[in-house]
Amino acid sequence: MTAILVLNGPNLNLLGTRQPEVYGYTTLADIETMCQDWAETAGCTVSFAQSNHEGALVDAIHAAKGQQDGIILNAGAYTHTSIALMDAIASVELPAIELHLSNVHAREEFRHNSYIAKVAIGLICGFGAHGYVLALEAMKAHLSR
Ligand code: DQA
Repeated sequence: MTAILVLNGPNLNLLGTRQPEVYGYTTLADIETMCQDWAETAGCTVSFAQSNHEGALVDAIHAAKGQQDGIILNAGAYTHTSIALMDAIASVELPAIELHLSNVHAREEFRHNSYIAKVAIGLICGFGAHGYVLALEAMKAHLSR
């Protein structure tokens, strides 16, 4: 069965109360439920995790090798700063999709750079919580090519 890791970075544990005008009112727990509901219908397994710590995210990416078929990564602010996360994705040689709730390209200039995009198969941003389902669909389609 296709196994997909959905990995969330810093401050995403605060979704629902964090700048709802930017990120919406859906909590991370709600998003996990959406992902698990999708997995049941799609016949896939979804592992869902969040950390505020860069090294823990690197560890989670390493642990995915041999266990997961693909990674969906909302790296939060680390997207724009973390060569370590970029290297981790490149090292495990798993397809990765970069994901953001907000349209980072319509926001501050510093959010326009992404280290993750350099090693991702694609990028989904700007669709709020629904982006997680879009990313899962895209990963499933990619893996069944
Ligand atoms: C985010 C966008 C990032 O720029 C920001 O630092 C986040 C959330 C998003 O999902 O829109 O923490 O990744």
